[in-house]
Amino acid sequence: MAEVNFNYMAKSPLSGKTVASQEKLVSQQKGNRDLQNLREAAKREISQAVYSYFTASREVLNELFTDGMTYQEYFAHEASDEMGHYLQLLRMVSKLDSTQKEQFIEHTLGAYLVENQEPSFKLWRGPYCYPPQERELRWLNTFREVVKAISLELETINKYEQYINEAGNPEVKQLFTEILNHEKGDLADFNQMLFSLFNIK
Ligand SMILES: [Fe+2]
Ligand SMILES: [Fe+2]
Repeated sequence: MAEVNFNYMAKSPLSGKTVASQEKLVSQQKGNRDLQNLREAAKREISQAVYSYFTASREVLNELFTDGMTYQEYFAHEASDEMGHYLQLLRMVSKLDSTQKEQFIEHTLGAYLVENQEPSFKLWRGPYCYPPQERELRWLNTFREVVKAISLELETINKYEQYINEAGNPEVKQLFTEILNHEKGDLADFNQMLFSLFNIK
């Protein structure tokens, strides 16, 4: 007698759906979850990281920090990196969401948001100068912005680890892993800045 694969046609005692259709549903749900997480991550990159690092670059000390860069330049440099993450995430969204892809192309953004072309955006517009008596206030601004940046990077690392665990698509998992590793570098950069503000060597 032929062996019947009961697993394939098995019905769940709870829902009555076949295992195959449940598996399809789970994979659809994972696909939707990937898209939602990509959009959430893109929102985090543009509205928190890019925005706060770019605005910080105008408010902080115009003094040498590291690698020949001032605190102002370093914040602008971090803002550019975060902009890169934002673009990578939107490209993955357009890969998984055909309507979004069509819209990007229709708005002549296909080269940057569908293909991998890097736009040349300039987030460094300084140096931003100030009178010497403002130095103490600038130091305090730098401290405040560094603390905000450390908090944001820590939260982002936690979020991206969650998105990696939830990822259904291996390319999404790979992208979140790549960006996560970069955020861990950012956390080190901002701690280096914190230590330098207090002259801890
Ligand atoms: Fe980022
Ligand atoms: Fe970051």
